[in-house]
Amino acid sequence: MTNNQLTENGHLRHFLTIEGLKRPLLTEIMDHAEQYSSLSHRQVKKVPLLRGKTIVNLFFENSTRTRTTFELAAKRLSADVINLNISTSATSKGESLLDTLHNLESMHCDMFVVRHNQSGAAEFIAQHVAPHISVINAGDGCHAHPTQAMLDMFTIRRHKQHFPDLRVAIIGDILHSRVARSQIHALSTLGVGEIRVIGPKTLLPSDCKTLGVHVYHDMEAGLKDVDVIITLRLQHERMEGALLPSAREYFQCYGLTDDKLSIANPDAIVMHPGPINRGVEIASSVADGPQSVILEQVTHGIAVRMAVMSIALGAQSEIEAQS
Ligand code: CP
Repeated sequence: MTNNQLTENGHLRHFLTIEGLKRPLLTEIMDHAEQYSSLSHRQVKKVPLLRGKTIVNLFFENSTRTRTTFELAAKRLSADVINLNISTSATSKGESLLDTLHNLESMHCDMFVVRHNQSGAAEFIAQHVAPHISVINAGDGCHAHPTQAMLDMFTIRRHKQHFPDLRVAIIGDILHSRVARSQIHALSTLGVGEIRVIGPKTLLPSDCKTLGVHVYHDMEAGLKDVDVIITLRLQHERMEGALLPSAREYFQCYGLTDDKLSIANPDAIVMHPGPINRGVEIASSVADGPQSVILEQVTHGIAVRMAVMSIALGAQSEIEAQS
């Protein structure tokens, strides 16, 4: 995928994938998010940074966390937000995606936040929008979920500070996970000491090693000396055929229980992008336990998305100045 997400001067215009982005930009996003994070503790949680801007949430696939935190983030930046309800939009009358986009463009929107079940959908939209519009990928098929990865990096930095010292293990359905792919790109760009993936062969991509990760099929070996554990949902909606014997057997082998968690470093944090399936990839006692930062991840989604939106719309001033 080409890196057409940057302007000629290297500023972020679209945010489609972490792949190809440099460490200073990822750090800039986290530093901005740190500032926005303190807003949540104020009585007035708004800043006027995006006043007059219009942001359209285009979610062609279901979402709880991502859609809501994008909306909150836009509102806290004082932008106007439209949530296009795809099921009641003219898309259901046969209007093409591009025609929908061009109609929205003619309403003078500034940003599209796109979730789609097809890999490459956000990139496709970014290629076809007018020059003054930014596109943010809110998850496309199995490909990428860059803002999720950035809120995960932000959460890790809050707890662990120094990325090169860390061993991070991602457990489960890596094959179908856009989150895992984006996390792996972000972790390696930030210079994490060791990235491990743990799962059955049927749920790991064949090109795993080219991503620079260490592959484990056994939880005991994979969790040893780990500082950060990321569990993933089994993404049945993207699986073709049966890749697992049963959810019960999966939990026995790869479910994160208190016993398995005790193999990792005692101060290891437990993460999950959500939605969680209790008793499948994670036990309730771990999900709700003292090492879990799962709900913190959700909270950080607001500040990180504020950072991404403000940086991307900042790049628009550059484009406007050139035109
Ligand atoms: N993590 C995540 O993308 O959750 P939603 O599907 O609820 O947005």
